[in-house]
Amino acid sequence: FRDAPFVMRRSAVDLTRHLARRRATEFLDALPASRAASPLASGGVRCASDDAKPPERGAAPLSTGWNRKHSCRFAEHDVQVMHPDTNRGIEVLLNPIYNKGTGFSIAEKERLGVRGLTPPRYFSIEQQCDKIWENMNEPGKTAMFKWRSMQALQDRNETLFYRLLVEHIEELAPIIYTPTVGEACLQYSRLFRRPRGMYFSADDVGHFNAMMYNWKSDVNVIVVTDGSRVLGLGDLGAQGMGISVGKLDLYVAGAGIDPGKVLPCVLDVGTDNDALLADPYYFGVNRKRLRGDAYYAVVDEFIQAVKNRWPNALVQFEDFQTTHAMPILRRHRNNVLCFNDDIQGTAVVVLAGVYGAMAALGKSPGDITKQTFVVCGAGSAGMGIANFLHTAMVHHGLTPEQAYARFFVVDKHGLVTSARELDDDAPGAEDLLPFASSRAAGDENSSALREGAPLAEVVRRAKPTVLLGASTVKGLFTDEILTLMGEFNERPIIMPLSNPTSRAECTSAAAAAATGGRAIFSSGSPFENQKVDGRYMHANQGNNFYVFPGLGLGSILVGSDHISDGMLNAAAEAIPASLDADALKRGEIYPRIKNIRDISVKVASAVMRQAVKEGREGRGGKISEILKLDGMEGIERYVRSSMYYPEYRPTVFAF
Ligand code: NAI
Repeated sequence: FRDAPFVMRRSAVDLTRHLARRRATEFLDALPASRAASPLASGGVRCASDDAKPPERGAAPLSTGWNRKHSCRFAEHDVQVMHPDTNRGIEVLLNPIYNKGTGFSIAEKERLGVRGLTPPRYFSIEQQCDKIWENMNEPGKTAMFKWRSMQALQDRNETLFYRLLVEHIEELAPIIYTPTVGEACLQYSRLFRRPRGMYFSADDVGHFNAMMYNWKSDVNVIVVTDGSRVLGLGDLGAQGMGISVGKLDLYVAGAGIDPGKVLPCVLDVGTDNDALLADPYYFGVNRKRLRGDAYYAVVDEFIQAVKNRWPNALVQFEDFQTTHAMPILRRHRNNVLCFNDDIQGTAVVVLAGVYGAMAALGKSPGDITKQTFVVCGAGSAGMGIANFLHTAMVHHGLTPEQAYARFFVVDKHGLVTSARELDDDAPGAEDLLPFASSRAAGDENSSALREGAPLAEVVRRAKPTVLLGASTVKGLFTDEILTLMGEFNERPIIMPLSNPTSRAECTSAAAAAATGGRAIFSSGSPFENQKVDGRYMHANQGNNFYVFPGLGLGSILVGSDHISDGMLNAAAEAIPASLDADALKRGEIYPRIKNIRDISVKVASAVMRQAVKEGREGRGGKISEILKLDGMEGIERYVRSSMYYPEYRPTVFAF
């Protein structure tokens, strides 16, 4: 076959894959759900057993790839099947998907024609990881050096890159993603080495459909940004690509999404960043941003083209500026499987923190209905969070009116009541309206709080159980306010969410001092744990990473065409489910990031169960079948077996 005409080789390969896939599908479908969901039930082609390797340290779980009808890695579970266009020899080493560096066995070197092209000694993937990790952590290596090293590794050996990321996720997530990726995005045009992902620019309008076909593989998850609000760094135009790439790396590491089926995208509609427009090396289109209808037409064309090419893919919107983020989500939420991490992910994480706090207090998630919230800040962050907390209260049985009555919203003019004249155009105004109109304004003769009452007065009179800050005002939670929280509550829940640290409403030290270390504390930026009078107070920090990988995986596996509020709530409830009793006792309300894969299994499974409950399941009802037969345990097994795990599989030619 090697010498046969290309077209013939290709069709033979397709036929082999097709048959192997069909066999595997039939095999899996014939099994009871519990068996089929197990990693042992992978089916498909097994490689000849000539790949004896020196024993490896630690038992790595066997990667089974996607199974059932979800996707198409059946034939490649236990082997890496080489693409027919790849030749034996040096091409194998130059391809990051197949390259293993010093990790080829002798038999494999012979088979792939690379004997002598790599050093003679064999090193396992664990040994390779150790070596790179040591190099990367030599004294004096900066975060940016580590980011570059990881990029270079991804460009030469993808499996090793993901393995390193999985093994050291706690240390590497801040390199691959925020904050270091922000620094990388600032210089992305200059750092550009190899293409990764797709750019859809204002100059390509009308061609998006055709362009999608330039991407050869199947796609499960797309992260798309227009680069208009990259982290806290503002408009970085096409250089926002770094964010899409980094986020998808976290999807792979955190939830085992197949790296061959992710697509980072940028909608390059121009930039209003004058420094970039003046930069001779800026790689985006050199024009000011499109606005109004022209802008939305680009987004619409992109979504339509995705739907045409990969109708089941999840589209995650990332770092769109606030004025566009909500309208885009509203426009497409019922149109395509999509999710906005900045809006929905953030709200889910805060809600997860509240559920975690309920657990730490020995309460159930439903006890959220008994909490009283004072929310400081009525911008898009504060209102997005308040709205979602409200949805959760309704989910747990309150009427919308009862739930609104549990909120006191305070902005820079003080308490917001029905007497407030709202500026319709202000970000978050639409969401603020129901909170405002449901709080009657008092006067000097009534017991109700008056319009514009200052925060301290609101806290004194409302006696909240939860104090939440999204105001950007450093020190807004004064000692007086924090002390009041400690007086009203055995364990007050204090959440200064504003970023960065310099804008946080209070520090962990202030919260601990004012409450004698009794507070359940969670912030948007990192703070130190505290000890006051021998009492330990844990400084929790919310992180969207808890949410999006599992949410994405669950929604694709269940085949939903929509991510509902119920599914988001299920994700939030599942996050603290990974905490053990000791952690809860210490006041920890979020689990450790190093357990992200276990967290993602819980999140994905809960999301799938909720989707089934809401009748959103696709793909022939397999998930409800598993649920019926094996319950949540079966679903969790199924999710785990669907996760990609980076390991070296024997590489074979399929013909
Ligand atoms: P924004 O500027 O749109 O809104 C700020 C709000 O705070 C306004 O309603 C303003 O009236 C209010 N405010 C100002 N001074 C105040 C005062 N003295 N007392 C009470 N309220 C006051 O900002 P946006 O986009 O809503 O973000 C707010 C903060 O939330 C930012 O620091 C952002 O970093 C943070 N954030 C945190 C997240 C997290 O999960 N930790 C997620 C998203 C945003």
